[in-house]
Amino acid sequence: MREVIIRNEEDTRAFGTALAQQLKPGTVLALIGNLGTGKTTLTKYIAEGLGVKETLTSPTFTIVREYHSGRLPLYHFDVYRLKSAEELFDIGCDEYFYGQGVSIVEWADQVAEVLPEETLCVFIVYGQEEGERIYQCTF
Ligand SMILES: Nc1ncnc2c1ncn2[C@@H]1O[C@H](COP(=O)(O)OP(=O)(O)O)[C@@H](O)[C@H]1O
Ligand SMILES: [Mg+2]
Repeated sequence: MREVIIRNEEDTRAFGTALAQQLKPGTVLALIGNLGTGKTTLTKYIAEGLGVKETLTSPTFTIVREYHSGRLPLYHFDVYRLKSAEELFDIGCDEYFYGQGVSIVEWADQVAEVLPEETLCVFIVYGQEEGERIYQCTF
Protein backbone atom coordinates (compact mmCIF):
# COMPACT_ATOMS: atom_id res chain seq x y z
CA MET A 1 0.00 0.00 0.00
CA ARG A 2 1.17 3.51 -0.76
CA GLU A 3 2.08 5.37 2.41
CA VAL A 4 1.88 9.14 2.58
CA ILE A 5 3.39 11.05 5.50
CA ILE A 6 1.28 14.05 6.44
CA ARG A 7 3.18 16.51 8.66
CA ASN A 8 0.43 19.01 9.34
CA GLU A 9 -2.99 20.17 8.24
CA GLU A 10 -1.49 22.06 5.30
CA ASP A 11 -0.26 18.69 3.95
CA THR A 12 -3.78 17.32 4.42
CA ARG A 13 -5.10 20.22 2.39
CA ALA A 14 -2.55 19.61 -0.40
CA PHE A 15 -3.40 15.89 -0.44
CA GLY A 16 -7.16 16.52 -0.44
CA THR A 17 -7.24 19.17 -3.12
CA ALA A 18 -4.93 17.12 -5.39
CA LEU A 19 -7.02 13.97 -4.87
CA ALA A 20 -10.16 15.94 -5.75
CA GLN A 21 -8.81 16.47 -9.28
CA GLN A 22 -8.64 12.68 -9.82
CA LEU A 23 -12.17 11.87 -8.69
CA LYS A 24 -14.70 10.69 -11.25
CA PRO A 25 -18.46 10.15 -11.21
CA GLY A 26 -19.14 7.04 -9.14
CA THR A 27 -15.91 7.13 -7.16
CA VAL A 28 -16.37 5.89 -3.59
CA LEU A 29 -13.66 6.89 -1.12
CA ALA A 30 -13.52 5.12 2.26
CA LEU A 31 -11.86 6.99 5.14
CA ILE A 32 -10.89 4.67 7.96
CA GLY A 33 -9.31 5.90 11.17
CA ASN A 34 -10.02 6.72 14.79
CA LEU A 35 -11.81 9.77 16.10
CA GLY A 36 -9.80 12.93 15.49
CA THR A 37 -7.48 11.51 12.85
CA GLY A 38 -8.98 14.00 10.40
CA LYS A 39 -11.54 12.21 8.24
CA THR A 40 -13.91 15.17 8.24
CA THR A 41 -11.04 17.60 7.77
CA LEU A 42 -9.73 15.68 4.76
CA THR A 43 -13.24 15.58 3.31
CA LYS A 44 -13.47 19.35 3.75
CA TYR A 45 -10.32 19.81 1.64
CA ILE A 46 -11.52 17.36 -1.01
CA ALA A 47 -14.74 19.41 -1.17
CA GLU A 48 -12.66 22.54 -1.58
CA GLY A 49 -10.75 20.87 -4.43
CA LEU A 50 -14.03 19.96 -6.10
CA GLY A 51 -15.06 23.60 -5.90
CA VAL A 52 -17.84 23.07 -3.37
CA LYS A 53 -18.98 26.50 -2.19
CA GLU A 54 -20.94 25.52 0.92
CA THR A 55 -19.30 24.97 4.28
CA LEU A 56 -18.94 21.27 4.90
CA THR A 57 -20.37 20.13 8.22
CA SER A 58 -20.08 16.69 9.76
CA PRO A 59 -23.01 14.41 8.83
CA THR A 60 -22.83 12.55 12.14
CA PHE A 61 -26.54 12.96 12.88
CA THR A 62 -27.84 12.79 9.31
CA ILE A 63 -25.66 9.92 7.97
CA VAL A 64 -25.28 11.68 4.60
CA ARG A 65 -25.04 15.25 3.37
CA GLU A 66 -25.08 16.28 -0.28
CA TYR A 67 -23.19 19.15 -1.90
CA HIS A 68 -24.04 20.19 -5.43
CA SER A 69 -22.01 23.33 -6.06
CA GLY A 70 -18.74 21.67 -7.14
CA ARG A 71 -17.36 20.03 -10.29
CA LEU A 72 -19.13 16.80 -9.26
CA PRO A 73 -21.86 16.18 -6.68
CA LEU A 74 -20.36 15.19 -3.32
CA TYR A 75 -22.10 12.77 -0.97
CA HIS A 76 -20.49 12.83 2.46
CA PHE A 77 -21.35 9.92 4.76
CA ASP A 78 -20.55 9.38 8.42
CA VAL A 79 -21.79 5.92 9.35
CA TYR A 80 -20.46 5.91 12.91
CA ARG A 81 -23.96 5.79 14.43
CA LEU A 82 -25.31 3.01 12.25
CA LYS A 83 -25.69 -0.38 13.83
CA SER A 84 -25.24 -2.37 10.65
CA ALA A 85 -24.36 -2.13 6.99
CA GLU A 86 -27.90 -3.19 6.25
CA GLU A 87 -29.15 0.09 7.71
CA LEU A 88 -27.04 1.97 5.19
CA PHE A 89 -28.32 -0.22 2.40
CA ASP A 90 -31.90 0.55 3.50
CA ILE A 91 -31.17 4.30 3.32
CA GLY A 92 -30.46 3.71 -0.38
CA CYS A 93 -26.68 4.03 -0.42
CA ASP A 94 -26.47 2.33 -3.82
CA GLU A 95 -28.21 5.33 -5.39
CA TYR A 96 -25.28 7.40 -4.16
CA PHE A 97 -22.43 4.92 -4.66
CA TYR A 98 -23.38 4.05 -8.22
CA GLY A 99 -24.63 7.55 -9.11
CA GLN A 100 -23.01 10.49 -10.88
CA GLY A 101 -21.31 11.96 -7.84
CA VAL A 102 -18.40 11.18 -5.53
CA SER A 103 -19.14 9.42 -2.23
CA ILE A 104 -16.88 9.82 0.78
CA VAL A 105 -17.58 7.49 3.70
CA GLU A 106 -16.19 8.09 7.20
CA TRP A 107 -15.92 4.90 9.34
CA ALA A 108 -16.35 2.88 6.15
CA ASP A 109 -14.90 -0.24 7.81
CA GLN A 110 -18.22 -0.54 9.69
CA VAL A 111 -20.15 -0.97 6.45
CA ALA A 112 -17.62 -2.88 4.34
CA GLU A 113 -20.25 -5.32 3.04
CA VAL A 114 -22.14 -2.66 1.09
CA LEU A 115 -19.18 -0.78 -0.40
CA PRO A 116 -18.51 -1.24 -4.12
CA GLU A 117 -15.60 -3.49 -5.04
CA GLU A 118 -13.70 -0.54 -6.59
CA THR A 119 -13.85 1.58 -3.43
CA LEU A 120 -10.68 3.59 -2.81
CA CYS A 121 -9.48 3.39 0.79
CA VAL A 122 -7.39 5.67 2.95
CA PHE A 123 -6.42 4.27 6.35
CA ILE A 124 -5.42 7.13 8.65
CA VAL A 125 -3.33 6.79 11.80
CA TYR A 126 -1.73 9.35 14.09
CA GLY A 127 1.96 10.07 13.64
CA GLN A 128 4.38 10.85 16.47
CA GLU A 129 4.17 14.62 16.35
CA GLU A 130 1.13 16.80 16.82
CA GLY A 131 -0.54 17.33 13.44
CA GLU A 132 1.24 14.34 11.91
CA ARG A 133 -0.79 11.60 10.22
CA ILE A 134 0.07 8.54 8.14
CA TYR A 135 -2.19 7.83 5.17
CA GLN A 136 -2.16 4.29 3.82
CA CYS A 137 -3.77 4.41 0.41
CA THR A 138 -5.02 1.53 -1.71
CA PHE A 139 -4.65 3.66 -4.84
N1 LIG B 1 -2.74 16.80 9.52
C1 LIG B 1 -4.01 16.95 9.95
N2 LIG B 1 -5.03 16.54 9.15
C2 LIG B 1 -6.30 16.68 9.58
N3 LIG B 1 -6.66 17.22 10.74
C3 LIG B 1 -5.69 17.63 11.56
C4 LIG B 1 -4.33 17.52 11.19
N4 LIG B 1 -3.59 18.01 12.20
C5 LIG B 1 -4.42 18.41 13.14
N5 LIG B 1 -5.69 18.20 12.77
C6 LIG B 1 -6.86 18.52 13.61
O1 LIG B 1 -7.41 17.29 14.06
C7 LIG B 1 -8.82 17.39 14.11
C8 LIG B 1 -9.44 16.34 13.22
O2 LIG B 1 -10.82 16.33 13.43
P1 LIG B 1 -11.83 15.67 12.43
O3 LIG B 1 -11.48 16.03 11.02
O4 LIG B 1 -13.20 16.00 12.90
O5 LIG B 1 -11.51 14.11 12.65
P2 LIG B 1 -12.43 12.84 12.40
O6 LIG B 1 -13.48 13.21 11.40
O7 LIG B 1 -11.48 11.79 11.90
O8 LIG B 1 -13.00 12.48 13.75
C9 LIG B 1 -9.19 18.80 13.68
O9 LIG B 1 -9.34 19.60 14.82
C10 LIG B 1 -7.98 19.24 12.87
O10 LIG B 1 -7.79 20.63 12.89
MG1 LIG C 1 -15.59 13.01 11.34
